[in-house]
Amino acid sequence: MRVFFARDILKMHDNEQQAWWVRKRNTLLDIADKNLNAYVYDLETIEKAALDMLALKSVSRVLYAMKANFNPEVLRTLANTGIDFDCVSPGEVLHLRAALADDATGRILFTPNFAPREEYEWGIREGLRVTLDNLFPLKAWPELFAGTRLFVRIDPNQGGGHHEHVVTVGKRSKFGVSLQELDELVALVDAADATIIGIHAHSGSGILEPANWQAVAGALLAAAERFPEVEVLDLGGGIGVPDKRGDPIFDLSLLDQYLAEFKASHPAYELWLEPGRYLVAVAGVLLAHVTQLKGKGDMQYVGVSTGINALIRPALYGAYHEIVNLTRINQDASERVTVVGPICETGDKFGTDRQFPASKENDVVAIATAGAYGRVMSSSYNLREIPPEVTI
Ligand code: LLP
Repeated sequence: MRVFFARDILKMHDNEQQAWWVRKRNTLLDIADKNLNAYVYDLETIEKAALDMLALKSVSRVLYAMKANFNPEVLRTLANTGIDFDCVSPGEVLHLRAALADDATGRILFTPNFAPREEYEWGIREGLRVTLDNLFPLKAWPELFAGTRLFVRIDPNQGGGHHEHVVTVGKRSKFGVSLQELDELVALVDAADATIIGIHAHSGSGILEPANWQAVAGALLAAAERFPEVEVLDLGGGIGVPDKRGDPIFDLSLLDQYLAEFKASHPAYELWLEPGRYLVAVAGVLLAHVTQLKGKGDMQYVGVSTGINALIRPALYGAYHEIVNLTRINQDASERVTVVGPICETGDKFGTDRQFPASKENDVVAIATAGAYGRVMSSSYNLREIPPEVTI
């Protein structure tokens, strides 16, 4: 049983406001006239999410985890609001610099994982803030880090996620230095003549409990207190968004309240956050057209013109994405259908047993919450096109 508190009910009410893709339906139908398939991003929605996050009083810096969506206009929109960036590869850094026409060095945290030595050398040479997330680089290449000011990623052993693939804490996750290794970390940092100025964590993706980040901050203290020069606790991303209209939305003001409590007892540290999904997921839809219909036993299939090559989340994580027939948005959802794409795998499904209006070939279908981890995780599987991106 699910228990709702008054606060949740209020937030549910907010979330029942019309989705942007209902308000901007005509624009989307025009785009679908010109494109068989397309990712469409609503920049106004991105800007609003960014400003909401920047308004958190207890957070000094918000870094966008650009792995979620690296569309250049999305990056520029976020940069213009004052959001900074978390980059996980030299490719991401170079792409960001090109998109912003700026070297943006002061705005980047460079957080590679299990990367080769050359990437750390490169990051340091570029003057980036570099995060280590293993003892190995300090043991194997201490000379690289002499005189550097580094972040270190700790496994706070506190977190969660919408699927086991995205839980980034605990011994089954490859990320972060474990709290048991702190003594060794201190010794290796000293021996390399480096300075730790920030403690970093990312506890998982799609977490809906604001208390998580307060707990992460608490867990990072044990590490921060071992390094007198630490100025920053970067609490990572993972802030969830609702899958369905009507689900409670993440309570940012409660997060701010929890973090403010933490800051009141530990005022020396700046708190940073690193959201990806929160800033872009809701702002994107994947548009496609109905191709074919089929009944098989008691199953009804609606085929659409793109598949898991464009949005792998349902197949990879069983993720729920709302699907609407934009052409028939006002018609009764009288049928129970499974929405599938053209890819040669049984797992090529966007949604199973969905209530849908009786649909026809060429109807326009929108798959919602596709602004994060959609285009960036796409592939050319079956040599199907990767849909173009359109911003509005
Ligand atoms: N910071 C670090 C170091 C990360 O590894 C990630 C995500 C984030 C921040 C941002 O997390 P977010 O706020 O977007 O949850 N492909 C999966 C999500 C994988 C996230 C990987 N790391 C999905 O589609 O759900």
